[in-house]
Amino acid sequence: MITKTSPEVGGMGHPIKRKEDSRFIQGKGNYVDDVHLPGMVYGHMVRSPYAHARLKSINTEKAKQLPGVLAIITGEDLAKANLAWMPTLFFDKQMVLATGKVLFQAQEVAFVVAEDQYTAADAAELVEVEYEELPVLVDPHKATEPDAPILREDREEKSNHIFHWEVGDRAATDKDFQNAPVKASVHAISQRCHPAPLETCGCVADFNKATERLTVYLTSQAPHAHRTLFALVGGIPEQNIRVVSPDIGGGFGNKVPIYPGYVCAVVASLTLGVPVKWIETRSENLQSTGFARDYHMTAEIAADRDGKVKALRVKTLADHGAFNAAAQPTKFPAGLFSVCTGSYDFGNSFCEVDGVYTNKAPGGIAYRCSFRITEAAYLIERAIDVLAAELKMDPAEFRRKNFIQPDQFPYKTPLGWTYDSGNYEGALNKALEMIGYKELRKEQVEKRKKSELMGIGISSFTEAVGAGPAHTFDIAGIKMFDSAEIRVHPTGKAICRMGTKSQGQGHETTYAQIVAQELGIPASDVIVEEGDTDTAPYGLGTYASRSTPTSGAATAMAARKIRDKAKKIAAHLLECSEADLEWEIGKFFVKGAPSKSKTIQEIAFAAYTNIPEGLEAGLEAVDYYDPPNLTFPFGTYICVVDIDKGTGEVKVRRFVAVDDCGNVINPMIVEGQIHGGLTEGLAIAFMQLIDYDENGNVQGGTFMDYLIPTAVETPHWETGSTCTPSPHHPFGAKGVGESPNVGSPAAFVNAVVDALSHLGVKHIDMPITPWKVWNVLKEKGLVS
Ligand code: CDP
Repeated sequence: MITKTSPEVGGMGHPIKRKEDSRFIQGKGNYVDDVHLPGMVYGHMVRSPYAHARLKSINTEKAKQLPGVLAIITGEDLAKANLAWMPTLFFDKQMVLATGKVLFQAQEVAFVVAEDQYTAADAAELVEVEYEELPVLVDPHKATEPDAPILREDREEKSNHIFHWEVGDRAATDKDFQNAPVKASVHAISQRCHPAPLETCGCVADFNKATERLTVYLTSQAPHAHRTLFALVGGIPEQNIRVVSPDIGGGFGNKVPIYPGYVCAVVASLTLGVPVKWIETRSENLQSTGFARDYHMTAEIAADRDGKVKALRVKTLADHGAFNAAAQPTKFPAGLFSVCTGSYDFGNSFCEVDGVYTNKAPGGIAYRCSFRITEAAYLIERAIDVLAAELKMDPAEFRRKNFIQPDQFPYKTPLGWTYDSGNYEGALNKALEMIGYKELRKEQVEKRKKSELMGIGISSFTEAVGAGPAHTFDIAGIKMFDSAEIRVHPTGKAICRMGTKSQGQGHETTYAQIVAQELGIPASDVIVEEGDTDTAPYGLGTYASRSTPTSGAATAMAARKIRDKAKKIAAHLLECSEADLEWEIGKFFVKGAPSKSKTIQEIAFAAYTNIPEGLEAGLEAVDYYDPPNLTFPFGTYICVVDIDKGTGEVKVRRFVAVDDCGNVINPMIVEGQIHGGLTEGLAIAFMQLIDYDENGNVQGGTFMDYLIPTAVETPHWETGSTCTPSPHHPFGAKGVGESPNVGSPAAFVNAVVDALSHLGVKHIDMPITPWKVWNVLKEKGLVS
């Protein structure tokens, strides 16, 4: 149980308004593009129009003659400094600027630097590049066929195959399938999509020749990791690099990798000795930076005749594009995809993934998910529905029958994860009740009699967030702990600095609430600062809903260290022994004599003015928190859809989301996170696809083709919660930011398939556009 603080203190559980919003709603945010430095110049990329072509020549003469142009950097120039290629976060390498050939449309070919951004863009048009087109590979299924063009000539392996990864017991799983009386399978594509954050990627690189210090203002979700990688790859001493991530307008995984534009801006600043700004356009962002998903998956479930699941077998083809630039922990080539047994008590299971190269933009980033969990949750929740339909069982009852039970936690999955806690039936029951499930099923029967199409889709997902235990998780070798530093000033106010970096999640508010809860210093008296590597303690950054499980925990631990010291000071002030003192939020008092007390503010003042002998002055602490396990939030989402037979349009009539992220710091922020993630899930289910034609021309490279949901398409979200605290987290919290993106796509798709199931429809791939649905209706003879 969390002790409730007063609203004035504003500790955990208070829905206090976000501190950061005051500057955002006044238009006073400070984003990378708001950084203007004296003498700053601008970079612009020349990009390839072809998906696969040999570079015959690059002529920069005309471009150089344009007044205002300062430099043009090509791959050949970078090669001289050994910088034409850079390592990706997943042990592959990636061209910074093309040498030899290009491997995807919009690949970076040259970097033009000019006095203003318009001249840079104009000069980029004048760079003459001669290409010789090569055969293009866009279909990952064809990547390993004998006649497929070999894309990566730089590799020793003359193949487009990147990796094979498997987990589980193949033989035992196969045996269970041989003996099983009931089997069902689904082939589902988690399509290539893009996080499309409101702010695109960019940087200002500022090398000061006098101090030899490089400051990079960067759209970075992981500033410290980026500093270390700049040092390792660029050979600049790490103490001479400062990475500053100011306000970030959404990241969703897109701002984890290092992009060629950053490297070129740094090289240009080192060369010219002036600050160089490079900001992507929207199309550059969609066409060339980290895409997400592109998983082509098959799941098979073996079950008893009475509907008890036995075994799960999963086979997946992962399209990584031209370079394997997945931002994933080292040990997991397919991320945490092996949580694909979901919320269900499977016996033997087996999961295998093969990664391949194609002529598409590189990436494989964790778009608002904990490294491929979105794909896994979508697959299992689809497969469970397919099997329930096969057995003619109600999908809610089928889930209930197969859930891991509360008394089975900590629960070891057959694919190796240990879930910390859960109560899946609790969340399901609440969601069923909120939506009025029984009545809806009755309504569906009546509607079908009238040939009206209505569907109900359920998703009871489990997430795995908080990477991670350092023994298992690292990014490019750096262990995945995270940090917090708290300094209490003499007047009892405080500043906190973290290794994480908010991109809109409200950290400036919620970390302050944790301090308020632990120390009794009002949240309004606590400033939270992230994103400056010169001041914040080292950390791995924010993605994969890891901030609360890691830096949130570190904040509580650092506060507790401060409390331990505060107790010594209080004993000195009250002239008693520490053993005689008790803590009540915000003050120590003498046991049995509550009027003899010292508030945290009085203690803070004494820490600088009246220190007991033998104790250091000051009141501050730092904590590097290495979580013992991931946290496992979960939930049940239920979606109700109506389908217009004339147009194939799907209308989401209702959507209930019941989430369980353990103890909640700020319920209003959590609700905001859920609303945003559900809206992104809706977009993926119904609207978004980064597609390519057979020549590798990207089809989703603008907001004309890659649709962003507006208030018009977005339904009213109904939220609820249950609370199953994490047993190992210092204040029982689990991460939550990604749950709605992870859990919702299956609920939408299950609802559409449910609406059409009586017509024999078993699956429709996302995005479920009206055109796709209309064609299904046509095929089934419902429209002429
Ligand atoms: O790493 P990221 O911030 O994206 O994800 P998170 O840890 O799930 O947190 C998202 C936001 O929700 C943060 O502001 C958290 O402090 C807040 N949150 C909360 O109030 N209670 C929880 N149990 C989990 C997150």
